[in-house]
Order: sequence, then structure tokens, then C-alpha cells
Amino acid sequence: MDDDVTTSETSAPALTAQVIDRLEQCPDPRLRELLASLIRHLHEFAAEQRLTEPEWMTGIRFLTEVGQMCTDQRQEFILLSDALGLSMLVDLVNHGAGSSATESTVLGPFYVEGSPWRSNGDAITDDLGTQPLLLTGHVRDTAGRPLSGATVDVWQNATNRLYAVQDDAQSPENLRGRFRTDGDGRFGFRTVRPVDYPIPDDGPVGRMLQATGRHPWRPAHIHFRVSAEGCIPVTTHVFDSASRYLNSDVVFGVKQSLVRTLVEHDPAVEPEPAGINGRWYTVDVDLVLQPDVAASRP
Ligand code: BEZ
Ligand code: FE
Repeated sequence: MDDDVTTSETSAPALTAQVIDRLEQCPDPRLRELLASLIRHLHEFAAEQRLTEPEWMTGIRFLTEVGQMCTDQRQEFILLSDALGLSMLVDLVNHGAGSSATESTVLGPFYVEGSPWRSNGDAITDDLGTQPLLLTGHVRDTAGRPLSGATVDVWQNATNRLYAVQDDAQSPENLRGRFRTDGDGRFGFRTVRPVDYPIPDDGPVGRMLQATGRHPWRPAHIHFRVSAEGCIPVTTHVFDSASRYLNSDVVFGVKQSLVRTLVEHDPAVEPEPAGINGRWYTVDVDLVLQPDVAASRP
């Protein structure tokens, strides 16, 4: 046999080392580092589990179906990352504890850029339904200074569980809007109390959840993207403390600091606020941004 021919090594560690060595010419050091680590972990997984060929093929077919499910409107790979807790792990690595700023959580697939600008006090829907919610809030920095002129971008699902982007029966602008905080950093709007909802589970991710005995539900929440000049923006939620799914969110997005109690009000006891008929709920939300020290350096 020709001595120059390199054959695949027979032991798993030697094979892994050989594959990683093949990255030697990779001109991008970070790409090389990431791929080497990915190869190491993938090989360790297959060897540790003694992955069978049918299991390997099932995995290949599953990932193929995940790709085939993706369209401009549906990102099944992100949904897979969410359902495996990978999205929240990336969030944790990048925005982990150590600051008094509002904690972040997943963006989710239903965010649409360019929501309509609204005035403080406006309703973000034409139909406040039977459980109207009055949300008030303020935005400040970690030193407690109110942030005037901050942008608060909000979106949530309707009482039929669907976001406007998922539902042709809703106006595309339903239950979304952008607000600017006033001189005291305050904002507010009228909306409906959000409801629990299942993530899209009619594809391979839904089948994975079912095969593993998991439910597809997210606890009721409202999404926020908050930005202000000189601060690090935050993407977060406010969760309803009454939800039964707080401890089993399918995408692992709940952080205790983001849970709020929605207070119920009775018109027989208190006068209804403008634009509200019947019982209503209120919640006050404090959103805190961290000053971007790096950006302010000359
Ligand atoms: C959402 O909250 O909109 C969401 C997040 C992750 C996956 C699906 C939905
Ligand atoms: Fe959501």
C-alpha cells in the first residue's frame, strides 16, 4: 500500500482528531474553533450513545423535514432551537445575570418590524373583549434615571391564541404597536389580557414534542423590545402569574423576574377608566436598561 495515502483511523478518538486536523487551513480562527468544538461534541455523542445506523438515519430525516418546513413565514429550525432550550442558553450566555437591567428572553417567531406608532393610552386592538388590560409602565436605566424618548415595541396574541401574523382574520396591525416614553419615562396602552397558547406544532418539532411526551404550550405573556439612546436594548416578556404553564414553558423562556400579577378591578367598586367597559385588569411594568458604556467611549 502507498505510504502517502491517509486512511480513516479505526478508533473513535483518532477519527475525531483526524477530522479536526482537517480544519488546519481554515482562515477564520473563530469558525475553526466553533467547528472543532462541534465535531468533538457530535463525535462524543455518537460514540457515547453507540448511535445505530437507523437512529442516525432517523436524525438525518428529521433535520431534513425541519428544513423543508421552513418558509419566509415559518422558521422551524429556530423553533427546534427554542424547544431544545438552545435559544435560551444562547440568551443566558449573552445576557446572563450580573446586572440589575430587565432580564431578556426569546424573541420568538411572531415579531414583525415596523409596528404602527401609537400614543400613550391608546388601545393596540379594536376589540378589547371581555378581559381588557390596562398596561402602564416606565423605562429607566440601571442608575434609576427615567429614560424619556425610549422606544417600547410590543406585540402579543389575541384571545383566539393567534398572533396577527398567523391569522388572516386579524388586521396585520392588531395587538402590536410602538410607543415612545414621555418626559418621565412613562408609557401605557390598553389591550386584552394575553392567553396561553401552543407554539406551531403541526411540523417536525411538534412531532418531536409528542414523541417525547411534552406539551407545546407557552404561558400567557406580552412581548417587549425596548431601546433608548446610550443604552443596551432588551428583548423580553411580561408573563401573567396566573398561567398554569409558568413552570413548563415549552421554550424555557420564563424568568421569575418577568412574572407579574394582573390585578382585577370591579366597576361596582371603582369607576371604569376611559375606554373600558366592565371588569378590567391592570399591570405596571418597570423596564430597566443598562447604559452602553462601550458605545459612549470616544
Ligand atoms: C413566542 O413567544 O412568540 C414564541 C417564542 C418561541 C417559539 C414560539 C413562539
Ligand atoms: Fe409569544
